[in-house]
Amino acid sequence: MVIFTNGGNNMPSTCSGLLDEGSYIEELKKQNNELLNINYRLQRMIYQTYSLYASLNHTGHSSPDINNKEAYFKTITALTSTIDAKDTYTRNHSKNVARYAVSLGKSLGLSEKELTGMRYGAVLHDIGKIGIPDAILNKPGKLTEDEFKIIMGHPSIGASILAPIDFLKDSRDIVEHHHERYDGCGYPFGLKGESIPFAARIVGIVDSWDAMTSDRSYRCALSREKAIRQLEDGSGSQFDPIMVKTFINSVISSLSS
Ligand SMILES: [Fe+2]
Repeated sequence: MVIFTNGGNNMPSTCSGLLDEGSYIEELKKQNNELLNINYRLQRMIYQTYSLYASLNHTGHSSPDINNKEAYFKTITALTSTIDAKDTYTRNHSKNVARYAVSLGKSLGLSEKELTGMRYGAVLHDIGKIGIPDAILNKPGKLTEDEFKIIMGHPSIGASILAPIDFLKDSRDIVEHHHERYDGCGYPFGLKGESIPFAARIVGIVDSWDAMTSDRSYRCALSREKAIRQLEDGSGSQFDPIMVKTFINSVISSLSS
């Protein structure tokens, strides 16, 4: 997937050969501090979300009303800002993925409850990138094999971040499995076909769609026709073929009307 090459130029690493050793160490220290700050903010947000949920349970709100649901969602959306701070590529990406995922979920007949879990999980699908060093996340050019292995850890990191939050239990599968492939060649577990959770298969498709149809610093967005062709090429190998068909026939066609 295109997200693993990154044309960002805000990491003047030694890869570019521009920094001497002293500047490089300074740069690493700066990034380390930024990471500590982000981690602190993330922990605080998780704590606030957890406290909100606990207090609602305590007051007998087994089924939170719409305002409380929105409060949940705002907190969850705030979590994604921590990813934005690290990876310029993901700005708006998480929200777009959530929008497409809910549309595809509706077309596939998911219930309101399932769509809510879908919305949360899709917004947070890349939350694990918070644990990936900026130097790798924003590296211009091709990643080494070792760097790619580190990137491949983000679904599991994301699942661990969400593990203590009860009301996100249904969304965790999306975070953990959105890079599995239908043919079993994905990660982290190499799950195959329908053993990949349904919602994660949906997010796998719309994640690729938004990546392909958005401008990046290193390339322009693909045309809709080219992106559709790429989805069709991946149908049955990378993606669930029925979901690809539904996405193209229902979601994409409604975008153009
Ligand atoms: Fe991802």
